[in-house]
Amino acid sequence: MKKNVAVIGVGAVGVEILRILKQRKFPIGNLKVFARSSRIIEVDGDQYQVQAISEENFDGVDIALFAGTEGEKGASVLYAHKFIEKGAVVIDNGNDFRLKEDVPLVVPEVNRSQIAKHKGLISNPNCTTIQAVVALGPIHQNFGLNSFILTSFQATSGAGKQAAKSLWEEFLSLVNQNKNNDFDNLDLFIKEKPVAFSNQIAFNAIAQIGGIGEDGFTSEEVKVVNESHKILGDDSIRVSATCVRVPVFTSHSESIYFITKKSATLEDVEKALKEAEGLVYLKDGLCFPLESQGKDDVYVARLRKDPFVENAFWLWCVADNLRKGAALNAVQIAEELL
Ligand SMILES: NC(=O)c1ccc[n+]([C@@H]2O[C@H](COP(=O)([O-])OP(=O)(O)OC[C@H]3O[C@@H](n4cnc5c(N)ncnc54)[C@H](OP(=O)(O)O)[C@@H]3O)[C@@H](O)[C@H]2O)c1
Repeated sequence: MKKNVAVIGVGAVGVEILRILKQRKFPIGNLKVFARSSRIIEVDGDQYQVQAISEENFDGVDIALFAGTEGEKGASVLYAHKFIEKGAVVIDNGNDFRLKEDVPLVVPEVNRSQIAKHKGLISNPNCTTIQAVVALGPIHQNFGLNSFILTSFQATSGAGKQAAKSLWEEFLSLVNQNKNNDFDNLDLFIKEKPVAFSNQIAFNAIAQIGGIGEDGFTSEEVKVVNESHKILGDDSIRVSATCVRVPVFTSHSESIYFITKKSATLEDVEKALKEAEGLVYLKDGLCFPLESQGKDDVYVARLRKDPFVENAFWLWCVADNLRKGAALNAVQIAEELL
């Protein structure tokens, strides 16, 4: 049963959506691709005609996958309801509708049953939240989560294509600056004003993603709390986060400390992780952002029991922010709609 599909936005996430639709052989009748300006783009050797977005071309779309920017002038706020009026189901990657009561916020491995409740729009969670709930969902289901504390190490592509590119440009600028230098006197500060982030990201780490609220938490950290409550269906879980941007292109890493409600041994938690959908549990060894790039699964390693606190554990979790953290999750929701 073929569906007419529209992809809105061809930045870091939009391109990945096009790639994944093809890789997973999504049954597409007609495909429309929109962005702010028209051009032809190439993805994995295939050319796509990108149209400048215009309401006149929204007819006949069954599923609209949004990967535009957020906010008032963002694609979803401006155009999602127009697609819905014309009969499409919208799957949105942005933050604009995620917490609205009548909008399911879905990670299929954890709460696919919510999809059926949609009223035309389904939201994809934030990348940081998606991989955390894939790892914590089975633990919550088996033992109940009392609390978790998450520290993220987030890739630059999480802030879009231009941001990822700026990491490369900063590195190149530093290489040029230090061409004739020996290692006794390296100048690791770029001369130019950083383009994509508040501070230089090359050879650095920035402990702020999004604006800082009155309580000191950033918007990214607040997303982790609110979105995991909604997806896990339990507002009583005590959640807090510190989100950090690091000089990685793709794939976020997370250190998560969690305490279960029911008593659980290390072996119990291991068993839940081994049986989990969309997750690869590495009992021995490590998982790396570089290696998870381009992969669909969420990788979990370094499970440890806190020797001082009952039912408390640590894990390390890595996933491709553009795939499972965005595009793949959106396409999986579209597959569920089929
Ligand atoms: N990057 C991630 O890891 C990640 C993870 C989860 C969720 N998200 C969310 O996914 C969305 C896309 O992120 P991204 O990283 O792919 O951003 P991006 O690289 O900056 O790309 C944004 C794309 O949206 C298009 N666009 C922007 N405003 C538009 C409008 N009003 N109408 C039509 N098209 C418009 C742009 O068009 P032009 O190319 O013509 O300028 C561009 O192609 C964002 O909401 C982001 O928060 C991203």
